Amino acid sequence: MCGIVGYCGPRRVVPVILEGLRRLEYRGYDSAGIVYLEGERLVKYRSEGKLSRLEAIIDEAIIAPAHIGLGHTRWATHGAPTTTNAHPHSDCTGNLVVIHNGIIENYHSLREELKNKGHVFASQTDTEVLAHLIEEYLNKDLVAAVKKAVARLEGSFAVGVLWAGMPDTLIAIRNQSPLVLGVSENDGTFLASDIPALLPYTKQVVFMDDMEMAILKADGFEVFSLVTGEPVKKEVKTIDWNAAMAEKSGFKHFMQKEIFEQPQAITNTVSGRINPESGEIVLPEMHLTEDDVQNIDRIFLVACGTSWHAALVAKYWLEKYANIPVEVDIASEFRYRHLLINERVLTVAISQSGETADTLAGIRIAKEMGAKIITICNVVGSTMTRESHGTVYTHAGPEIGVASTKAFTAQLAALFLFTLYLAQKKTTISAEQSMELGRDLIGISTVVERELPRIQQEVQALVERYYDCRDFLFIGRGLNYPIALEGALKLKEISYIHAEGYASGELKHGPIALIDKDMPVLALVPQDEVYQKSISNVEEIKARQGRIILIGTDGDSHLRNITDDIIYMPKVANAMNPILYTIPAQLLAYEIATKRGCDVDQPRNLAKSVTVE
Ligand code: F6R
Repeated sequence: MCGIVGYCGPRRVVPVILEGLRRLEYRGYDSAGIVYLEGERLVKYRSEGKLSRLEAIIDEAIIAPAHIGLGHTRWATHGAPTTTNAHPHSDCTGNLVVIHNGIIENYHSLREELKNKGHVFASQTDTEVLAHLIEEYLNKDLVAAVKKAVARLEGSFAVGVLWAGMPDTLIAIRNQSPLVLGVSENDGTFLASDIPALLPYTKQVVFMDDMEMAILKADGFEVFSLVTGEPVKKEVKTIDWNAAMAEKSGFKHFMQKEIFEQPQAITNTVSGRINPESGEIVLPEMHLTEDDVQNIDRIFLVACGTSWHAALVAKYWLEKYANIPVEVDIASEFRYRHLLINERVLTVAISQSGETADTLAGIRIAKEMGAKIITICNVVGSTMTRESHGTVYTHAGPEIGVASTKAFTAQLAALFLFTLYLAQKKTTISAEQSMELGRDLIGISTVVERELPRIQQEVQALVERYYDCRDFLFIGRGLNYPIALEGALKLKEISYIHAEGYASGELKHGPIALIDKDMPVLALVPQDEVYQKSISNVEEIKARQGRIILIGTDGDSHLRNITDDIIYMPKVANAMNPILYTIPAQLLAYEIATKRGCDVDQPRNLAKSVTVE
């Protein structure tokens, strides 16, 4: 969703904001804007399209002797992605500007009210309403006016406000949309909707909570509760990411870099969490007592998109090894259905960002119903981690490509650790089994690292024959069924080829009607417990002249009789197949999309971190 950047301090503000926006562009990229205060005048530049379009029109502004300003990169909700709808939005005087992420749900009635009072609107956005509402209440006290205006808003909002009448101050407000402050001794104060914008300047951050207002000045900040009006003492946290982690480092795209970072992401997620002598899983941040674990009757896994696919894999693992019934829910469904939850139900949110609106709403509901909440998350201090009883962090580092890759395999690694942790506590697996499974998990990153370059080459050799297809099916069984879903999602989101994932056994219940010589099917057929069944499903496709790419086990020569296109994978423990078999699916999507000339890091209509419903 939209990216917000703000700065006040000794640096020249425009380069700081542009650099921040560049690092947040994954959040939205249909228009961008910047505003800064030069003398007593607010200077505003906006452009539709990507950030580069904005940069192209503000050459001279880069050296402006200005030290306070705001920037925004937009993912349109209300109003088309045009320059007029780009943020910042101004009041009638042009002396007050706001930037906003989220949705002001009652904007229509507020707009009518303000219009009747004589306010003139320049855009179709919900955001502009806030600028005029603050103007309506503004006398001399900006803070009081912002408080009054915010009290009238319904919906979700992360907001930055700058007023020429208070030239040393930025105001930030958070309600159900992430905002983080960056603090430093002598380098000014920063505001952003996500950490990567801050990394070139500081690793000291303060996460704002809902209904809080921050007043930022060059030499520090204060935070107030909008509910009680009282100051809030905030904890300053240190982030262990660095600026280079959010750079392409010689790769053509972030997505490609992140695919190749997967061995490291898995290693970082696993390391230090398995005792090499005893095989014991150590997850202290889960904060579950022995009783909590023994009392678990059922687990709900709640997530969206790619993270939901990780949840589907985890269901197989948890039921098999920890012997606990698991329900997997898409968060946007979970939050609105009749839930049968009590304190014996463990609810696990899986979210790369920890900010996804639907998942967050889901865990809030489950928490209210008495469930313990655990979050599997990649972002330290994100809202979900703060609202959960415990967390299992994935240590994938910042993920910038909009299509999730390394965060997904790191989630799988974390979920396998989580499974083993519960299985050990509930003694549903033996000590030897536990040691063996732990070793399998530790070993998988080495296999992925070794195989990645070869898989890439083999995928590249296939692409010529498949890149101009209109449709694609991905199929798999058991643990690899969710990987088929994930492969199809990757392909459709970055290449715009229509792709669907199916459980192989479901094909004959409908989708097989689609099979002909123009329908490519990527089938995941490792030699696992359901291998024979998977092969039968592939034979059914072959009998109908389907075009098949098989991903199977090294040495399985039978596969050659069924298909021309094969990518062989080394034999690993069956439980680890989902991690390994994700790699060719990701690479196929990446190579096809780049061959089609698509912008893989910023695919159309998408944005990372979906903080609106
Ligand atoms: C797809 C993708 C999305 C996210 C989904 C949930 O490549 O990245 O489907 O997985 O929007 O996001 P998180 O994991 O941040 O909750």
